Amino acid sequence: MSLRGDYNLAASDYSVEQDWNAYRGEEHALFRRLYDRQSKLVPRYACAEWIEAIAELDAGSGIPRFDLVSRKLKTKTGWEIVAVPGLIPDEAFFMHLANRRFPVTVWLRKPEEFDYIVEPDVFHDFFGHVPLLFDAVYADHMHEYGKGGLKAMRLDAVKMLARLYWYTIEFGLMKTPAGLRAYGAGLLSSGGELAHSVTDPAPKRLAFDLEKALRTEYRVDRYQSTYFVIDSFAQLLRETAPDFAPIYDRLRALPTLAP
Ligand code: PHE
Ligand code: CO
Repeated sequence: MSLRGDYNLAASDYSVEQDWNAYRGEEHALFRRLYDRQSKLVPRYACAEWIEAIAELDAGSGIPRFDLVSRKLKTKTGWEIVAVPGLIPDEAFFMHLANRRFPVTVWLRKPEEFDYIVEPDVFHDFFGHVPLLFDAVYADHMHEYGKGGLKAMRLDAVKMLARLYWYTIEFGLMKTPAGLRAYGAGLLSSGGELAHSVTDPAPKRLAFDLEKALRTEYRVDRYQSTYFVIDSFAQLLRETAPDFAPIYDRLRALPTLAP
């Protein structure tokens, strides 16, 4: 697969300068349009932690300056944003997370990709992922995930761990007093799947099951047919805390599950 970012200027950890002044007016306007569409949906479909955090970000006026947001985030949970040219290799990705740095893609999708984009762009990364890093428990979970990623590389288990990421951090749902809500970044940044994931009768919604998530394959090119539902970020942190090494060993012997 060829990636569309510009990797020439990246440092060895794949970080780049955001160069905020280089964004064009049309790009800020497109970001605002994406932001406005999602803003109409999130009060009904996003989890409370995300809704609370986005308010602190005032990201509604255009592509945000990562350095300003990093400063707030650093004070709140010790996380920072690092600008990256796009998708980066596993090791660099895990290394950033393990050091409480979240990689955010610098480029924005094209207008014709308003509804759907394959690779993560600044809107997905920022709108979907960054707000939850303001939540202390979620922030700690993401840090543990990063360390777990480096470990999974040594154990040749990245594929399994990536499925967990997909079914939680990207497409996770949460049972809340207000009803089912989304916390997965792929849902929060999606114009169509956000409402679908919460209200459509068709998809399966399974109570979070660590081993099942590690075993279940996923599709990147359509709405998910299965979502895993957590009760809280505390549950996610708690249930992912055990040593995965023996779990990986056991699951390796079992077949994977269809999406
Ligand atoms: N506990 C996992 C391990 O030992 C690491 C991990 C933490 C993975 C949080 C995912 C989320 O490998
Ligand atoms: Co993402």
